[in-house]
Amino acid sequence: MNVLVIGSGGREHALAWRLAQSPSVQSVFATPGNPGIAQSATCVEGVNYLELAGKHGIDLTVVGPEAPLIDGVVDQFRQAGRAIFGPVQAAAQLEGSKIFSKNFFARHNIPTARFHTAITEADALRALADFEAPVVLKADGLAAGKGVVIAQTMDEARETVRQFMAGELVGDAGKRLVIEEFLLGEEVSFIALSDGTTLLPLLPAQDHKNIFDNDQGPNTGGMGAYVDERILTAAQTETVMETVMRPAIEGMRKEGSPFTGFLYAGLMMTAQGPKTLEFNVRMGDPETQPILYRMQSDLGKVLHAGATGNLHAQTLQWSPDPSVGIVLAAEGYPGTPRKGDEITGIAEAEAKGAKVFHAGTQRNASGRLVTNGGRVLAVTAAAKTLPAAIASAYEAAAPIHFAGMQFRKDIGKKGLKRW
Ligand code: AMP
Ligand code: GLY
Repeated sequence: MNVLVIGSGGREHALAWRLAQSPSVQSVFATPGNPGIAQSATCVEGVNYLELAGKHGIDLTVVGPEAPLIDGVVDQFRQAGRAIFGPVQAAAQLEGSKIFSKNFFARHNIPTARFHTAITEADALRALADFEAPVVLKADGLAAGKGVVIAQTMDEARETVRQFMAGELVGDAGKRLVIEEFLLGEEVSFIALSDGTTLLPLLPAQDHKNIFDNDQGPNTGGMGAYVDERILTAAQTETVMETVMRPAIEGMRKEGSPFTGFLYAGLMMTAQGPKTLEFNVRMGDPETQPILYRMQSDLGKVLHAGATGNLHAQTLQWSPDPSVGIVLAAEGYPGTPRKGDEITGIAEAEAKGAKVFHAGTQRNASGRLVTNGGRVLAVTAAAKTLPAAIASAYEAAAPIHFAGMQFRKDIGKKGLKRW
C-alpha cells in the first residue's frame, strides 16, 4: 500500500522511516516532510491533504502532529471514505482542551490531580483559596508548551491568573483555566494505539522537558527521551492500563466519539499510584524516535488495522535493547531559534550505528543541510543495557556539529537507578 505521513518533525521522520521498512508498504509520501524524511519518503506539498491523498493513490494516511487532528482532518478523510489513523475532532479535544480532558477524567474516574476550572478571573482567584503553593495553572487551549505555569507562591499564582486572563501569556488559549494541585513523582510517557476498542500499548518512555541538565531552565518540546521496560514494573503497567488507558477508550466510545489513533498519557507516578497529567492524541516527540527505533513489527500493517477497526488481530514485536534519543537543538531554543547554520557529521554519526532523525533541517540554495528550527536532530541508538545505550547515543552524536548547537548531557540518567 501507499502511505502518506502528515508532518515535518523528528516524530514524522521516525514514522516515515519505519513505514518505509514495512513489508506491507510500497511507497511512503510525506507532507511537507523535511530533508531527513526525504531519504525514506517522497515529500509532496499541497494545501489540501485529502486532495494529496487522492492524487498520489494513498491507501493509509498517518497524522503526526495534533493541529490537523484538532482541525478535523480525520473527519474529513472518513467522510470521503479514505483510511486514516488518528482521532476524529471530537476525540482530539482530549488534547485540544484541558477543561474538556479534566472533566472527562472526572466523568470516568481516571486518576488525576485535584482541580478547578475557571472562565473568569474572579472565579479563578476565589478558587485559589482551596489550593496551596506550589499550585499549577494551565491554559485550556493549545499553547505550544507555554500553557502550564507552576506558581511557587500564592502571590505568583494570583499574578499568573491575571496574566492568563488578560491574554498576556498565550492569548485567548489562557482565558479559560485549569487550577490544579501540584503532584510529586516521576513522569512517564505511556502511549498506546487504539482502533476505538482494542488497545495496544507501546513501550514506556521518559522525556526530558527542560532545556538544561538536571531538569533546569525553561520547558521545551522535549530535549531527549529513552525507552526502557524497567521504567514501569509489570504491575504498574497493568495499573496504568486498568485505571487510565482502558477507561479512556471506553469513555470515549460511550460518549459517542470512539478514539482511533495514538493515545499518549503523560503520567505522574505518585506515592498514590499513577495520575494523569494530560492526554495527547498523537505520538510524542521525541519519544517516537527511540520507541520506533525498537519496533520490529510491520508498522504499516498495524496502523492500517488501527484505522479500520482490526487491531484485535495484531501484536507488537520489539527489540529487547533499551534505546536513547538525544535532541540537538539550535541556538536560542526554546526561544526564537537561529536558522541557517550548516550541519555536518551526520554520516559519521550513522556510521557508528545510530539513526539520526531530522526535525528542524532544510537544504539551502546551494544544497547544503542547514538548521531550520528549534529542535534540529535526534540522535538515536540502542544497546544491551541502558548505560551502554546512553554511551552509544552520545558517542554517535559527537561528530555532529552546527554553530550554536545545544544538547543535554544527562538524557537517560534518571533511568540508571533501575540498573
Ligand atoms: P502538561 O502540558 O499538562 O503535561 O504539563 C506540562 C508539564 O508541567 C508536565 O510535563 C509536568 O512536568 C508539569 N506538570 C503539569 N501538571 C502538573 C502537576 N499537577 N503537578 C506537577 N507538575 C505538573
Ligand atoms: N514530548 C512531549 C510531547 O510530545 O508532547
